[in-house]
Amino acid sequence: MKQNIYDHPEFFHQYHALRQTPYNFNSLLEQPAFKSLLPNVTNLQMLDIGCGMGEFAYYCIENDAKHVTAIDVSKNMLTIAQREHAHANIDYCLQALEDYDVSPESYDCITSSLSLHYVKDFDTVIGKIARMLRPDGVFIFSMEHPIVTARKTVEDNWIYDDNGNRSHYAVDHYQHEGIREQTWFIDGVVFYHRSISTIINTLIAHGFTIEKMLEPLPDIESIQKLPALEKELRRPSFLLIRAKK
Ligand SMILES: C[S@@+](CC[C@H](N)C(=O)[O-])C[C@H]1O[C@@H](n2cnc3c(N)ncnc32)[C@H](O)[C@@H]1O
Repeated sequence: MKQNIYDHPEFFHQYHALRQTPYNFNSLLEQPAFKSLLPNVTNLQMLDIGCGMGEFAYYCIENDAKHVTAIDVSKNMLTIAQREHAHANIDYCLQALEDYDVSPESYDCITSSLSLHYVKDFDTVIGKIARMLRPDGVFIFSMEHPIVTARKTVEDNWIYDDNGNRSHYAVDHYQHEGIREQTWFIDGVVFYHRSISTIINTLIAHGFTIEKMLEPLPDIESIQKLPALEKELRRPSFLLIRAKK
């Protein structure tokens, strides 16, 4: 069954409040890295998977993309997208990626920011994405980094010394792929852990060439704005990949 945690009232309330803050991990770290992987989007026909509140789809149109189909499983997210980032050249669709169907080779560029770790069957959706892309099309996605998703316990993965300082980061169960549950705003948020080799080999098996990978580091100015980013100098939260069909 597909999870739709962003329509859980308490989860959504807290997630929305987080994304309203001027400085957060998305605005200072993940999105700048994600955008740095984009090709020139002028005139491109795009699909954004897990589009959330539509900021990125709107950014693509502002940068002259021809059209963006923006899909998301959450009604809450799309309500805000349609209210705040509506545009004649963006179609917002209430649709899970797993159920989305479109003619082969419909898009020049497919993007997905921080949604694919919620998908159970990675192989099937990567195959679907490969089919939807035109030859030479580009697929850009970010996900929670496998060293962050690996551990099965729901506690903080940082281990602290007697003085309360971070001693080291615990990685365990890395080779045991599959479902994980974490407490993020609420208990029982489900996501899926996969090793880096599984992610890369799945892309290769569906005909993709890996063009670039990023494990973004914050700059000094960003750390000054959001000191929690300092942890990223020790272990990455995000993995980003640009792959070409
Ligand atoms: C962390 S949010 C990111 C939203 C947006 N991409 C951004 O960067 O602001 C993850 C989004 O993925 C959506 N999502 C999760 N599973 C999905 C699925 N199977 N199909 C489509 N969207 C999904 C969620 O509803 C949520 O809006």
